[in-house]
Amino acid sequence: MNMNNVYTTQSAEETRVLGGELTGEIIPGTLLCLFGDLGAGKTTFTQGFLEGIGAERPFVSPTFVIMKQYDLLKPVSGIERIYHVDAYRVETKDFETIGFSEWCEDKKGIVILEWPERVADLLPAKRTEIHFKSVSENEREIKVTSF
Ligand SMILES: Nc1ncnc2c1ncn2[C@@H]1O[C@H](COP(=O)(O)OP(=O)(O)OP(=O)(O)O)[C@@H](O)[C@H]1O
Ligand SMILES: [Mg+2]
Repeated sequence: MNMNNVYTTQSAEETRVLGGELTGEIIPGTLLCLFGDLGAGKTTFTQGFLEGIGAERPFVSPTFVIMKQYDLLKPVSGIERIYHVDAYRVETKDFETIGFSEWCEDKKGIVILEWPERVADLLPAKRTEIHFKSVSENEREIKVTSF
């Protein structure tokens, strides 16, 4: 996977595979902002990433827990933890309180954030954005941009 490119997937499985391929490119300390409507594939992609990097199952959706931390038993290229975060139901001020900046400052961590636009004011300039677009029932356009 190239960190500045557009991909098209034809199934949830293809999106999962793409998420797995990102594990080969990513460096510790990265904030990954996943933009896209409900059902666009953000969690599906993240689960492929978690599987690819060897995170321990079960993979849960953070929609209700806000943040789910995965500690890797074996570090992968300096990455020891993944924070999977969903800001859909969160107010910006609460998001600061629960520790968003600390997760982003973890030099051995990766933060994967769904619904980043809900906390736009808190996003550091240095981040990778992935934009998911539903083209049809099973087709998704996935655009990756690193800043
Ligand atoms: N090409 C595809 N890529 C990803 N998901 C797909 C694709 N085709 C169909 N789907 C379906 O679309 C849905 C994507 O759901 P997912 O939970 O990943 O979305 P999300 O972006 O995380 O939504 P939310 O904002 O509600 O968290 C799943 O039901 C999946 O099976
Ligand atoms: Mg989701």
